[in-house]
Amino acid sequence: MVRTFTKLNYFILFCKLLFSWIASYFCVSVCGIAPLNSKIVGGADAVPGSWPWQASLQYFGKHFCGGSLINKEWVLTAAHCVAGTSTKKLLVSLGRQNLEGKNPNEVSRRVAAIIVHPDFDRGTMNNDIALVRLSSPVPFSHYIRPVCLAASASVFNNGTGSWVTGWGHIKEGELLPFPQTIQEVAVPVIGSRQCNCLYGVINITSNMICAGRLDGGKDSCQGDSGGPMLTKLGSVWIQSGIVSFGIGCARPNLPGVYSRVSRYQTWIKSHISSHEPGFVHQSSSNLYKPHFLVKRKLH
Ligand SMILES: *[C@@H]1O[C@H](CO)[C@@H](O)[C@H](O)[C@H]1NC(C)=O
Ligand SMILES: *[C@@H]1O[C@H](CO)[C@@H](O)[C@H](O)[C@H]1NC(C)=O
Repeated sequence: MVRTFTKLNYFILFCKLLFSWIASYFCVSVCGIAPLNSKIVGGADAVPGSWPWQASLQYFGKHFCGGSLINKEWVLTAAHCVAGTSTKKLLVSLGRQNLEGKNPNEVSRRVAAIIVHPDFDRGTMNNDIALVRLSSPVPFSHYIRPVCLAASASVFNNGTGSWVTGWGHIKEGELLPFPQTIQEVAVPVIGSRQCNCLYGVINITSNMICAGRLDGGKDSCQGDSGGPMLTKLGSVWIQSGIVSFGIGCARPNLPGVYSRVSRYQTWIKSHISSHEPGFVHQSSSNLYKPHFLVKRKLH
């Protein structure tokens, strides 16, 4: 079908240009853009720069959890990763492709502060979210950029295509092999009601979002905690979840459980006064068709 340019189209174009000009004038930080992520429907191997917000949290130089960069000096992670941890000896590594070997685009920072959600409950894993402030801002590059966050009241229906990334185990109890290249896996959202049924006595609260395949085989695993679960809206990546827990990894009918980022917009904003992270509203009508043809996967 031919797309004709009507007056309305010109008006919309004008508004978009005006908006982008205003946005750049006031230095609104652009989030969720991964210029080196060539992934379109159909999937491909992750190339360096595919997930430029991905952080590795390291203790005494060893990776223990993931995280995501949300502006130039704050990283979002899971509360269970950092609760009770001292900021000393903690390092946040960004722009990283492998855990071992060369990482030419890597930048690391010490940690200035850790803010664990005050209602985090280790017993139920409710409110498994924390903010980490870097010792100084990181420069953005093609390999280091902030992600957008799902705004309050965003809706992620059952089946919403999502991606999870991290350096965690590739199977229950099986370490990622040398050189420990970042892994990505596509998993659909599992609706809360169904997830709650699947988990039986474990309470999947409204602060959680589930994702995985009911036949198993694809999931986040140990070491992925704190890392992002993402969904793509147009050209922008939005973080919908934080890797939190599961029973085992990739077992059938036990999807991964993630902290529901959209529930924490107010809390996150209350701690970040300047260079506010980008919040994007995802509604159910914005679904893109998921394809599960990834070559690399986390089990
Ligand atoms: C949710 O989506 C999955 C496929 O991703 C499907 O197997 C399941 O039946 C759906 N559940 C509901 C309640 O629609
Ligand atoms: C599940 O957790 C929520 C939030 O903590 C609570 O309000 C609710 O009563 C719990 N439900 C069950 C069945 O325990």
